[in-house]
Amino acid sequence: MKYEKPTLSDIPQMLALVEPEVQKGNILPRSQDEIANTIRSYVIARDEEKIVGFCALYIYTQKLAEVRSLIVSEEYQNQGIGKELVLRVLQEGEMLGICEFLVLTYREAFFKKLGFEVIEKTEIPNHKIWTDCIKCKHFPQCNEIALFKRL
Ligand SMILES: CC(C)(COP(=O)(O)OP(=O)(O)OC[C@H]1O[C@@H](n2cnc3c(N)ncnc32)[C@H](O)[C@@H]1OP(=O)(O)O)[C@@H](O)C(=O)NCCC(=O)NCCS
Repeated sequence: MKYEKPTLSDIPQMLALVEPEVQKGNILPRSQDEIANTIRSYVIARDEEKIVGFCALYIYTQKLAEVRSLIVSEEYQNQGIGKELVLRVLQEGEMLGICEFLVLTYREAFFKKLGFEVIEKTEIPNHKIWTDCIKCKHFPQCNEIALFKRL
């Protein structure tokens, strides 16, 4: 398995991978342009030529970033790929000087294993609400759990 930064030509494969989870409402839809704008925030897992997972780190402020768009292809799950992707974006954030990480997810147990702790939704930064939540089909009745990790 290779972990690497994607290029713009990887976007169609990334969109195809995430589509089933977008349909289920587990992951927010992102357009090709939106992914292109933020392509440097992603890390992908590649098996030969095939993209089998990815994760992004979206920076809000000088100290706060969000782990988002985490996905591992079903047939590659439970092999440690999701964990490795998250650890890599956290490491990237740390190198940039980020010390607080937020995630909104249905996978509470997965993120707790990585040292995240549950926080109240009222603690979610406004930036997140107005850039992302507002676009979500579950807004404002969101069942996702907010978790936070401080380095
Ligand atoms: C969540 C997801 C990315 C996990 O990826 P993965 O590669 O299967 O996870 P890993 O194999 O790295 O698991 C790491 C650890 O978390 C545990 N884990 C994985 N999924 C879990 C779950 N749903 N509930 C509880 N623990 C879980 C694993 O057992 C493993 O534990 P260990 O370190 O003690 O062995 C994957 O299930 C997925 O893509 N789900 C659909 C999309 C989604 O919900 N994304 C999250 C959006 S924030």
